[in-house]
Amino acid sequence: MSSESKNDPRSPARPFWLSGHFAPVANEVTAHELPVEGELPNGLDGTYVRNGPNPKDGFSPHWWFGDGMVHGIHLAGGRARWYRNRYVRTARFTGTVLDRERRLRGGGTSNTHVIEHAGRILSMVEAALPMHLDGELSTVGAFDFGGAVDTPMTAHPKRCPSTGELHFFGYQVVRPYLTYYIADAGGRVVSKREIEVEGPCYLHDFAITERYALFFDSPARMIRDWGAGMPFEWSDSHQTRIGVVPRAGGEVRWFDVESGQLCHTANAFERAGTIVLEGIRSARFEAAPPYLYRWELDLESGRTRERRLDDRLVEFPRIDDRRTGRPHRYTYVVEMLDFVDGAPTRSLLRRYDAETGTSLAQELGPGQIPGECVFVPRSAWSTEDDGWLLSLVRDGERDVSELVVLDAGHFGAAPVARVRLPQRVPFGIHGSWVPAAD
Ligand SMILES: [Fe+2]
Repeated sequence: MSSESKNDPRSPARPFWLSGHFAPVANEVTAHELPVEGELPNGLDGTYVRNGPNPKDGFSPHWWFGDGMVHGIHLAGGRARWYRNRYVRTARFTGTVLDRERRLRGGGTSNTHVIEHAGRILSMVEAALPMHLDGELSTVGAFDFGGAVDTPMTAHPKRCPSTGELHFFGYQVVRPYLTYYIADAGGRVVSKREIEVEGPCYLHDFAITERYALFFDSPARMIRDWGAGMPFEWSDSHQTRIGVVPRAGGEVRWFDVESGQLCHTANAFERAGTIVLEGIRSARFEAAPPYLYRWELDLESGRTRERRLDDRLVEFPRIDDRRTGRPHRYTYVVEMLDFVDGAPTRSLLRRYDAETGTSLAQELGPGQIPGECVFVPRSAWSTEDDGWLLSLVRDGERDVSELVVLDAGHFGAAPVARVRLPQRVPFGIHGSWVPAAD
């Protein structure tokens, strides 16, 4: 491949994550008072933020390895007040030489998720500490919870809706392989425990229930540190199992399950002596399609049951985060209908209803490629589907990107609003709603 064809975004020689709707954008943009089609709900008062890889020199050897870029859209008073996109300025981004310690301390990329906790916006990647961003998405610096976190941090922490605690973990190729942390609602780490495992494995996501944390020990073994390509190797001899860890402390209990890996958690909860974990499962790391799946762990008998819930190819499961750890009714996913070279080229949003056992598609129109959707409740007291769903959507026919707002209570109906963004937003990974401060 010539370097010319590799660097030409229209070249078919370029991998999927550098072309089409994944192609990185070159500029950091600030725009105010964005055009809105439809009516933005007055109740949306805050900032939608979403992270994703956007290699600054236009090339990365894998989708996961591009520099992180956070896109933000600030909504208030029925208007779209601003759009900003900013690189997460890690040490690698600014050109600092990286040893392992520096990578851990926010040196590598930070491109996977972005959340708010205890007044801080945190950009996250599972290979390093989170990066603290200010309200306008500029990088403040690496964040180690006041020195309490000395391992990488997952990009999928879970906030307990009852306590406001942030539960998270770090995995790494050296001991301790797996560390489980709990930070209180104020951002202070109040619990740090090593979870004893045979060795490190790819552990992208986990789950909490009201009393337990769940860790998925898969055959995707971590065989070296990040920094020299994908550090995982599938081991057919490794028994896949789920570790059930009491949040309050105590023995870990392991449940053997079918060989496979948890890609993303939808939710987990306890029901009549059983722990239910729902999420996206793939039978093999980067080599098998993702499906919605349910594992049930019987705490009394020790038996497990598991099954695929649907034959559609789906990813990016999200729920109303206020249901985290307790039974939920609705799961929202991105369904992938067509692929070219591993990249989805046609997709839609789908909602699963656990009460009826049915699902419903949300068509957005031809050429529209939605990303993960985020649920925003109408108020703290509203019911599970009383609120809105936000998704960044690429319109391939018009070559624009929009923040699409759906009424969650009328899933499947036309969007209530579309916010036109001043530039294309590459298909990215995870995002959050950051409510305006009271
Ligand atoms: Fe993820």
